[in-house]
Amino acid sequence: ESNGLVLGIETSCDDTAVALVDSNGIVVSSAVASQTMIHNRFGGVYPEAASRAHVDKILPTVRMVIEDAGIDPRELEAIGVTRGPGLIGSLMVGVDTAAGLGHGWGVPVIGVNHLRGHLRSADLEERRVTYPAIILLVSGGHTLLARMTSPSDIQLIGNTRDDSVGEAYDKVARMLGLGYPGGPVVDKLALSGQPTIPFPRPMIDQGLEFSFSGLKTAVMYYLAKEKDAPAADIAASFVESCMTVLLAKCRRALEAYPSASLVVVGGVAASPQLRTQTKALCDELEVELCLPPLKWSTDNGAMIGLATWDYLTTGRSAPLAPQTGLTIEQ
Ligand code: KG4
Ligand code: ZN
Repeated sequence: ESNGLVLGIETSCDDTAVALVDSNGIVVSSAVASQTMIHNRFGGVYPEAASRAHVDKILPTVRMVIEDAGIDPRELEAIGVTRGPGLIGSLMVGVDTAAGLGHGWGVPVIGVNHLRGHLRSADLEERRVTYPAIILLVSGGHTLLARMTSPSDIQLIGNTRDDSVGEAYDKVARMLGLGYPGGPVVDKLALSGQPTIPFPRPMIDQGLEFSFSGLKTAVMYYLAKEKDAPAADIAASFVESCMTVLLAKCRRALEAYPSASLVVVGGVAASPQLRTQTKALCDELEVELCLPPLKWSTDNGAMIGLATWDYLTTGRSAPLAPQTGLTIEQ
């Protein structure tokens, strides 16, 4: 007999995250073992340390989530686990653990695309997304625009040619000696500065694609030249460049495709600047803005659990083997 729950497991990067989710996106229990303290001193994610921490944390985290909910894991509908994209060692820990648990409990195991997880995160706990929707996914690993006409119909309409916006935040934070992850600290510092430095706004006039490596490099050259420049002004100018580009692309996508809503997901969706500015854009264009609660913006097991339901209801299948370079369509 089924208890109507999916166990979602996410280990693509530096957080061991597990959750139990029903088919409506209600999160019955969830837990995250964060590795921030491990990677902070490296100024970025150190892959070998990430894999080892996943090995240590994954079974205790699964156990905690199951015990919290007081359920019998043999009655799960399925286990959904991130199969990519992500760090290969981290993915392997999640996929192998899920395969073992599924075998032991007699429960099917489904390999889930991490990006599809992020795309669905705005429907966790309550349905927020109205279709057709434009989705801006801004995370440490990805920056892309997609169009969705239903929870499982996803079309990629713009991608980054090089770095993600989260990566640019993290690199700028490292240059300014602010530690990892960089997003929250750079955002906070930016609030006390003036956006006086004209950093580039890469590809702002061209289509729906992104590029952030040039902006990152421009900050690096500026810092090398202007050693005494106030860090807050650098942060404010950098954030303004990022926001101007992201907003221009969202506007272009919303104007190109008839849309009921704009959905902003991924770690950078935690940025207060991005939240405020996308709200103003949506008010102007009269579309709904759909944002996941902050805790579901960054990597988590619940979004993988909810995406697993899409695979179950559409009969979509994917091999369980970890794959590092998946796109959204896979
Ligand atoms: O979605 P996520 O947790 O992991 C990936 O799938 O990559 O995103 C992590 C990224 C990091 O680059 C982090 O600096 C950024 O999200 N981030 C933020 C904020 N909080 C996290 N960026 C801007 N503002 C924030 N408040
Ligand atoms: Zn992610």
